[in-house]
Amino acid sequence: MIPDHLFAPFRAEALALPNRVVMAPMTRCFSPDGVPGDDVVQYYRRRAEGGAGLIISEGTAIDEPAAITNSRIPLFYGDEPLGGWKRVVDAVHDAGSAIFPQLWHTGAARQSELSVNPDVQAISPSGLFAPGQAVGRAMTDGDIERLVTAYGQGAADAKRLGFDGVELHFAHGYLVDQFFWPEVNLRADAHGADRFLLAEAIVAECRRRVGARFPIGLRFSQWKQQDYDARLFAGPADLSAFLERMVDAGVTIFHCSSRRFWEPEFEGETLNLAGWTKKLTGMTVITVGSVGLNQEFLVSRTGVDTAIDESRLELLNGMLARNEFDLVAIGRALLADPLWPSKVRAGRFQDLATYSKDAEQTLV
Ligand SMILES: Cc1cc2nc3c(=O)[nH]c(=O)nc-3n(C[C@H](O)[C@H](O)[C@H](O)COP(=O)(O)O)c2cc1C
Repeated sequence: MIPDHLFAPFRAEALALPNRVVMAPMTRCFSPDGVPGDDVVQYYRRRAEGGAGLIISEGTAIDEPAAITNSRIPLFYGDEPLGGWKRVVDAVHDAGSAIFPQLWHTGAARQSELSVNPDVQAISPSGLFAPGQAVGRAMTDGDIERLVTAYGQGAADAKRLGFDGVELHFAHGYLVDQFFWPEVNLRADAHGADRFLLAEAIVAECRRRVGARFPIGLRFSQWKQQDYDARLFAGPADLSAFLERMVDAGVTIFHCSSRRFWEPEFEGETLNLAGWTKKLTGMTVITVGSVGLNQEFLVSRTGVDTAIDESRLELLNGMLARNEFDLVAIGRALLADPLWPSKVRAGRFQDLATYSKDAEQTLV
């Protein structure tokens, strides 16, 4: 079954895309000293040529010394890394697609001794990676101010380099999500009393730096790498309170990270997290989670075989037809096969490359 709604053009104010296929952000660690080189440029160009309408880059470090672990994760500051990103942007545009960088700070999900800047401690709301698991130190007011400025600078650089928007990585138990999560945000100050204050300040600063029209995306998740069952929002009312504040601060796109797109978010209701987000905000919304594959992402990382699974594409197509969300991010399937969109569009399912953990070892 060819999911034709996936290939309909999309337009929303400042964003025009040839189709609904988004490349999900995926850390690849192929940028020595943080600089995306030729192989990374070609890797993204191939996804654009293969038909992904919008590419969200791998998580890229904002200008804060404790942002990331691995020295092969690309940086989003400094002349050389930004020069590399400029070449990525030009290649993707040349192939007819749009691209956003994903701005990232890992917070306490950082092992300093293995990291770039090993002498710098990990930072987080309360010095916790997970409930009861101490890593690094709690952020000071000065750290928080610097973080907000660094995100704003990243957004401004994204615009200056010609990106089509920017995505803020506030998901999966990394720094900003650590502020969202009551079990690891034990602060006694305003950021403990109001867990969304930091996110709001970052979004507002990014909006101030990029002006009114530039698309700002926010990726969030209920699940955490530390706890798949963690939940920030018990029901639509909680979710709505969060979303409303983010929209007011300047978000125009929500990227709702779930592990399986077909699962309803709240008991007794049918919509998934993206569906609820669309219904509550009317903004541009991206869904994600095991599209075209039979294993969810963290299970597949343990090496369990992952097979191509077209059976839910019809379901996905129906959800798009009902406007439950606008765009669909594809992760591992696009990592394994840059031609995933054009092959699916042509009904060539038997020609799709299979994803396995090994596929992560090279930049196909
Ligand atoms: C190798 C790999 C690296 C990833 N890195 C990131 C990342 O940097 N930022 C992010 O938000 N999600 C990251 N993810 C999660 C994906 O964006 C996506 O949400 C997840 O793989 C589920 O989509 P899929 O089932 O289509 O693969 C990564 C996933 C994989 C497989």
